[in-house]
Amino acid sequence: MLPKKVEEILNVQIRKEDYSSQLYLSMASWAENKGFEGVSDWLFAQAEEERMHMLKLVKYINEREGKAVIPGIDTPPADFGDVAGMFEKVLAHEKYISGSINEIVSTCIAENDFTTQSFMQWFVTEQIEEEAGVRAILDKLNLLGKNNLYMFDRDIMSMRARGGAGQN
Ligand code: FEO
Repeated sequence: MLPKKVEEILNVQIRKEDYSSQLYLSMASWAENKGFEGVSDWLFAQAEEERMHMLKLVKYINEREGKAVIPGIDTPPADFGDVAGMFEKVLAHEKYISGSINEIVSTCIAENDFTTQSFMQWFVTEQIEEEAGVRAILDKLNLLGKNNLYMFDRDIMSMRARGGAGQN
């Protein structure tokens, strides 16, 4: 049985993962409309991964005899300025999510829920990888220069194909 506080904070995380999925879907659509095929593919796949994170939490809560609450959809922004600015937003968002995951782990420890603490380790590792992946993309963008976006777009496509940044 899940401690009430753990159940509550996991349900808050379901909402955050769901929002992450919607946010990246909106970014993917924005990038697709601008003709960035590689960037939009990366974001569409990222949106799917966030949905998978949400489902993982739903199933876990229910397995532990809690009650997962499926949230309504918050509308994400639709305009992201430029590609570099958009990836800065992705990194900021992932840092925010990492903070939430740490908060959940702290709650598990405070509530002596070591089962959930262990379950959350997957998310801790995932966040390290996701942040590192987005940082690698931003480094590449800086190296290629913001005027070489066509090259960057091709490159991000091959990063994804090689199982690189952001892919699990
Ligand atoms: Fe599920 Fe990227 O956090």
